[in-house]
Parts: sequence; structure tokens; C-alpha cells
Amino acid sequence: MAFNIAVAGKGGTGKSTLSALIIRYITEELDKPVSAVDADPNASLGSLLGLHVKSTVADIREDIVEKKVDFSGMSKDRYIEYSIEESIIEKDKYDLLTMGRPEGPKCYCYVNNLLRKYLDKVGTTYPFIVTDNEAGMEHLSRRTTNNVDLLLIVSEPTIVGALTMQRILKLADSLPITIRQKLCILNRVPKDGIHENLQQKLDSLGVGISAIFPYDQEIYDTAACGASIFEISRENELYRKLGGFLQKHLPASMLAKTTVSRI
Ligand SMILES: Nc1ncnc2c1ncn2[C@@H]1O[C@H](COP(=O)(O)OP(=O)(O)O)[C@@H](O)[C@H]1O
Ligand SMILES: [Mg+2]
Repeated sequence: MAFNIAVAGKGGTGKSTLSALIIRYITEELDKPVSAVDADPNASLGSLLGLHVKSTVADIREDIVEKKVDFSGMSKDRYIEYSIEESIIEKDKYDLLTMGRPEGPKCYCYVNNLLRKYLDKVGTTYPFIVTDNEAGMEHLSRRTTNNVDLLLIVSEPTIVGALTMQRILKLADSLPITIRQKLCILNRVPKDGIHENLQQKLDSLGVGISAIFPYDQEIYDTAACGASIFEISRENELYRKLGGFLQKHLPASMLAKTTVSRI
């Protein structure tokens, strides 16, 4: 089964940036294929990876509901499966599926069911799944995946961030899925480190921090120019720190340099 990494946190904290860097690290440094899923309605993982996303799962649903489609003799389920496969962007080392923005709560259910089926399938053929989640972890709470091996909760280094991390940790405990490990990350930390008030607050909330990632000028410049995360230097400080973090927290079997290909 795939090792399932889910990245969560409030909007604007760096979830998509870190998801993209994780995908780069696994494909380039560990030489393993990744099934990437952009589950944030405000989809941005594709553009961070330098891809042009033409169609999302929500678009497929929209077309079906508005009866714009000719199933060409296929069953509806088969048609949906086919359309999802068509919307996946395939690169040498990774694939990207973009969920898109479903209209209305019922549609979330429908799109999430499609996502679950898809993940069940890729879970048996890829060594890694990396999901960039929406702020509310909606699809995790709707049992979209059977399990998450590593939940990364990303936060800004502020009191509001600390309170949000505590809330997400509690929410994660109440989800109807197995989450094997939850780790909190402070991102975009200024070079002087985190404020002592914040450290006290984290201690009093019982929120342990597993990684402190710096504010990084090259990451900012890349985003400001709309360039791909694959263009940042391999020596980039954030990329190296993230690599060290993954080396520490991924199981040894997933780090081994034996090339595993997609089936
Ligand atoms: N460590 C960092 N240093 C500098 N800028 C960062 C860092 N992490 C994220 N950013 C920037 O912060 C903004 C929000 O990041 P993003 O990954 O889109 O957040 P989210 O997916 O949580 O909404 C982006 O402009 C991104 O380039
Ligand atoms: Mg994002």
C-alpha cells in the first residue's frame, strides 16, 4: 500500500508550497513515483508544480449534472472513471489529480466519493500519495481515504496559528479514519526564530512542534514570478530542511533507494 501523506492547515500557511516541495523531494531525491492530489477547492498545486490544469473532478461532475455529456454507450460510472483518468496530468515521476471547487455541500459528497474510489486504486499502485488538503480537512472528515500515514499540520508562527493547530489536532482525533502520525510544522519563521510568547503558548496548549521552516526569499521570489517549485535550487535552505525532516519521519523502507515504478 502507498504511504499516504496529507498536508493540512489554515489557508495561506504554506500547505501547497510544502506539498509541492515534498513531491519534488520524493520524486527527485528518493526517486519514487508520487500520486499527487490537490484537494483544496482553491486549487494551486498544479501551478506550483509548473503544470496547466485543464480539467478538475468538480468540472466532470458539473458536466454530468448539466447533462452536457454524451456517455457514448458507456455506463455513467465507467464514463466518470474514464473522465477522471483523462483529467489526470501525468509526468515522468508523478501524476496530479485536481479536485476543483464543487458547487454546494451535496456536491462535495459526490466529488469525495469519486476521490475515494480513485485513491483506493492508486493506493495499490503508487509508493506515495501526497494530498494538499483544504483548510477544513473536509475530505478527510468524510472518510475519503482509509488511512493517513503522516498528517502534516502547517501553521504560521503566531498565537492564532498555535490555536488553529490545537483545533486541527483535536479535529484529526475525531475523524473516522486512522491517522498514524500527526506532526506540526511552523512555516515562514523569521530568521530570529519564534517569539518566546509563542513558545510559552505552544507549551501551555500542549502543541509540540516537529519542524521550524524559515521564511525563504527564493520561495517568495519563485511564487512572485509564478515559476515552478522545480526551478528552485537544490541547495535551497527550505528544501534541504524539508528533506532532513522527511528523512527523519518517513519509514526506512520508504527511503531505500530501490526504484519503485508505477504498476
Ligand atoms: N517558507 C516560506 N518562505 C517564504 N514564502 C513562503 C514560504 N512558504 C510559503 N510561502 C509563500 O506563502 C504564500 C502562501 O503559501 P501557499 O503554499 O499557497 O499556502 P496555502 O496552500 O496554505 O494556502 C505563497 O505566496 C508562498 O509562496
Ligand atoms: Mg494551497
